[in-house]
Amino acid sequence: MAGPPTAEVLVGKDAADVSKRLCDAIEAAYNSRTEKEAAFVIGLSGGSLPKFFAAGAAKMTVDWGRVKFVFCDERLVPFDDAESTFGVYKASALMQIDGVTEASFVVVDPSLDAAAAAKDYAKKLSDLVGGGDPGLPRLDVLLLGMGPDGHTCSLFPGHRLLDEAGETVAPITDSPKPPPNRVTLTYPVINNAAACIFVCTGEGKKDVVSAILDDGTDYPAGRVRPTNGKLVWILDSPAASTLKRAAER
Ligand code: 6PG
Repeated sequence: MAGPPTAEVLVGKDAADVSKRLCDAIEAAYNSRTEKEAAFVIGLSGGSLPKFFAAGAAKMTVDWGRVKFVFCDERLVPFDDAESTFGVYKASALMQIDGVTEASFVVVDPSLDAAAAAKDYAKKLSDLVGGGDPGLPRLDVLLLGMGPDGHTCSLFPGHRLLDEAGETVAPITDSPKPPPNRVTLTYPVINNAAACIFVCTGEGKKDVVSAILDDGTDYPAGRVRPTNGKLVWILDSPAASTLKRAAER
């Protein structure tokens, strides 16, 4: 791995500050896109990210009618299952924002098996962004989390999906983080995004955060390096407590 990723590193002093920095970064990406007609596509992750995004989204100055939400990964469970990422967002304050409706979300079809769901979602993405072009969709902003093992999306250490280069969306049926059956974006489409924004909080992640951002150690989250886009890591103080590199605090 070629050293630490080039990234803007921000440290929030508390959860509200993490949320504000996240929403400011999304709004900056929204405002920097010159093409104002097509949908602005935001990729959503699960875990702790929904609470940070939902807490600050209402304060953003965005035409939500132009925003489409896609999923960086999704669990293949019914939407009313507590493990459904769409289900978490559907129950969040995001739905109270003017212009955000269920139609804002391009959902994964959890009734399909993993392989079929991945194929179906890849088509939905290319129809949304590529105008049906089977090429590589360029998503506007991906909101990413990182597990304590350094995974992101449903890309886990040592998993063969880390080397998937042919598909934009891949199935996984052996996720070490339950539930086992998911679909996930793969690195070609992740690293083709205009912006990737990590939110990573908690002392339990400090060592992996420093390994990635200081040493460039090869973890799945560290492989997120947009080829022609912005990379932002938003941490809280505990997750940044052993970080050596400069960060905006
Ligand atoms: C998921 C996520 C996953 C998540 C990490 C971090 O659906 O599980 O997409 O990649 O972002 O597990 O989760 P936390 O932020 O809760 O630690």
